[in-house]
Amino acid sequence: MKRKLVFATNNAHKLEEIKAILGEKIEILSLKDIGCEADIPETADTLEGNASLKSRYIYDHYGMDCFADDTGLEVDALGGAPGVFSARYAGENGHDSEANMKKLLVNLKEITDRKAQFRTVISLIEQGKELQFEGIVKGDILTEKRGCSGFGYDPVFRPEGYDLSFAELGNDIKNKISHRARAVALLCKHLSD
Ligand code: IMP
Repeated sequence: MKRKLVFATNNAHKLEEIKAILGEKIEILSLKDIGCEADIPETADTLEGNASLKSRYIYDHYGMDCFADDTGLEVDALGGAPGVFSARYAGENGHDSEANMKKLLVNLKEITDRKAQFRTVISLIEQGKELQFEGIVKGDILTEKRGCSGFGYDPVFRPEGYDLSFAELGNDIKNKISHRARAVALLCKHLSD
């Protein structure tokens, strides 16, 4: 019988990504699959803390091995902001990408140092023991939005070594070089060992 592992998300895109890599060896279950409808608290002030809160919540309530991720865009000139607050940078309601990008571009208006990175932290809990995996992609923030694929801050982020934004590069390339892909690769390596 395949080993079962809960991914503490209902994001269909993230689930597909993981299932495509691990699905043959491990049965990946979503929050919906285990009947979890709770609004899991994400109240920590670091990516590490939030990833941990989510995986710990599932382990404590369901007793199943599980993992959770948290991602932020960290801009050097803004002291690492928006960071853990990336989803709700422009307001508490969150997930308003247009408003978030607008605020970011305004805050960087006169600033020439536009270095930034996306960082993903994955927290894995196996039999109560936690391990974390980190993926980073460095780049810079453009002066205007470019491209229309992807999501979140993709139109304003240009990864190092490319002339195009994430949103212009498209998902095939992005998913090979992204912060999430790098963190997931480390998770998968651990699970396959
Ligand atoms: P989450 O932890 O994956 O939900 O990411 C938190 C927030 O970071 C999202 O709401 C987006 O604003 C931003 N974000 C995460 N991953 C990406 C990405 O790959 N491209 C652009 N924005 C992202």
